[in-house]
Amino acid sequence: MPKKTVYDLPTVHGQRVLVRVDFNVPLTPTGAIANDRRIRKTLPTIQYLVEKGACSIVMSHLGRPTGDPQADAIYRMDRVAHRLEELLGRPVRKADEVVGPAVERAVAALAPGDVLVLENLRFHPGEKAGDAAFARSLANLGTIYVNDAFGTCHNTDASMVAVPRAMQDRPRVAGLLLARELEVLTHLLENPQRPLVGIVGGAKVSDKIAFLRSLLGRVDRLLVGGAMTYTFMKAQGRSIGSSRCENERLDLARELLAQAGDRLLLPEDHVVADRPSADAHTRVVAGDIPEGWYGMDIGPQTRERYAAWIRRAGTVVWNGPMGKFEDAPFAQGTRAVAHALADSQAVTIVGGGETAEAVESFGLDSRIAHVSTGGGAFLEFLSGSRLPGLEYLEERT
Ligand code: ADP
Ligand code: 3PG
Ligand code: MG
Repeated sequence: MPKKTVYDLPTVHGQRVLVRVDFNVPLTPTGAIANDRRIRKTLPTIQYLVEKGACSIVMSHLGRPTGDPQADAIYRMDRVAHRLEELLGRPVRKADEVVGPAVERAVAALAPGDVLVLENLRFHPGEKAGDAAFARSLANLGTIYVNDAFGTCHNTDASMVAVPRAMQDRPRVAGLLLARELEVLTHLLENPQRPLVGIVGGAKVSDKIAFLRSLLGRVDRLLVGGAMTYTFMKAQGRSIGSSRCENERLDLARELLAQAGDRLLLPEDHVVADRPSADAHTRVVAGDIPEGWYGMDIGPQTRERYAAWIRRAGTVVWNGPMGKFEDAPFAQGTRAVAHALADSQAVTIVGGGETAEAVESFGLDSRIAHVSTGGGAFLEFLSGSRLPGLEYLEERT
């Protein structure tokens, strides 16, 4: 059943709307915002609330603070609030606390159309703990709860579950970003245009076991790339040289290969390097990987073959880079797959932190039907799990 959205709210003007967003943006080592996509994607919801005269109280976590104030300083929300202000083109206030009297005063001072950003929710231990008293302090700030934090919906943090649970006497709806993510991904699970082609790469099989199993139950073809390739190859008894491999997952890899039959394609050639670094000597090998060499990317024949499957697809879902794309010598596989999606007539869906970053770095995100803001949440939703963050949102009847 679809969730109610901000469009279903009968009255918004003058209401104090608690908006949970996922402003957990990547930061540079000095704390600058490396990529503001997650902020930009919530603008439609926040703009809508502003235009309707809501008093918006925007809250998010940022990073994984440890409790050491000095080390955690880069996780303060000031730069995020400032970026939101620039993008909205109107003033945004910032509270220096998460809850407490200063926050209550700042909320009481809000006029219709104002936007206040709270301090990083994870500065309070009650957030990760899902603490009910902390949740009540947040819940008391708002007359309406909006969840636009798809990327955090797989977590049980207080602001995702205990806060809407404490607000069951008040409206609790999805923001426009969350609603769009759910619509696209639900359609993918329930009624995809076929052939449905899955592409999985990235670092490890073990990060994506449930996702791989779920995809194998649904797709017509599963194209594998990235470092997980070598765990699958080793499970087949093939040589992988010095490539990354999860030796404790070989049985699982064999089980997945058996489940997949000929629907799972592994790379037939590879870009290999004599060291796993950008300045290594590289060459292309077909078949197995020679002793002493590291598999770093899919090779040119594989790029062609995967692109051909993507051209033929009705729907493509992609998570996980095809190689160590951050280093230019190993980016060609990921770039080729991204271009194939951009050129394809299929419904194209991309998710995962690094995968989305790769697509964006190639300037192709506007040519993909849906680039999800979810990493873990994207994988869990498509694994068929119920996301805790959705539980207390009202359903459309
Ligand atoms: P996502 O965040 O999109 O879900 P992952 O976190 O699973 O993706 O994996 C992304 C990482 O995997 C990238 O940083 C990339 O460098 C790395 N990677 C992919 N292929 C290889 C490889 N062959 N060798 C080393 N690292 C790889
Ligand atoms: C994410 O980036 O996946 C979400 O913001 C959740 O962050 P977390 O992995 O620190 O819980
Ligand atoms: Mg990742």
